[in-house]
Amino acid sequence: MTYQFEEYPTRAALIEKLSQALIADLRSALSSQSTISFAVPGGTTPGPIFDRLCQSDLDWARVNILLSDERWVPTENPRSNTALLRNRLLVGPVEVAGYVPLYADYATPEDAMEPLSHQLNACLPLSVLLLGMGADMHTASLFPGGDQLSFALGDSAPPLVAMRAPDAPEPRVTLSASVLNAARYKHLVIFGAEKRHALEQAQSLPAQEAPIMAVLAGTTVHWAD
Ligand code: 6PG
Repeated sequence: MTYQFEEYPTRAALIEKLSQALIADLRSALSSQSTISFAVPGGTTPGPIFDRLCQSDLDWARVNILLSDERWVPTENPRSNTALLRNRLLVGPVEVAGYVPLYADYATPEDAMEPLSHQLNACLPLSVLLLGMGADMHTASLFPGGDQLSFALGDSAPPLVAMRAPDAPEPRVTLSASVLNAARYKHLVIFGAEKRHALEQAQSLPAQEAPIMAVLAGTTVHWAD
């Protein structure tokens, strides 16, 4: 599996260098397209990266921002990735960016698939992708044991897939592996020894058990302890 591994002496150094790399990729994409798309993870890792990105000078009005996956909870819920994005990335100069939602106020993700997919399809393929990973080797909401994992990893998956998994406290929606893989620039950010070890373990496992393996080719992995 060919991926690049970048190790940083501190988390602060990673945040700075990764933010610079993302801005460079966004600029490069903007130089050849009138509008581009930028997908980012939720969870606890990306907050400080968002804080840094939203201080960056870029033609944000030409960038459509979206999540790699969302937890099916109202946006007031502390677990909402949409809330994280609204509070930490879509602020300051980034307020003018386009926003492509992966959540709508319907009881289940299945109810919202059609309206959400419509807007999502219009911004594909992804230009720049940042992913996170769990210590269980999931990425986006491609979880080991997920009820739709095989479907979401397969070539016939639609861009957006609903997912329920034993280790996910709520239903999810996730971009499918083929959408993630079609991104022009792909980055993965992980912190800590446990996740580094998990990524090493993943190398000998099929994507069904280690979903990160489905999206790792061509990705730059950014790691700090
Ligand atoms: C989510 C994510 C998910 C995340 C990993 C890592 O909503 O949970 O998008 O894929 O990137 O679970 O999460 P942490 O950064 O919190 O460790």
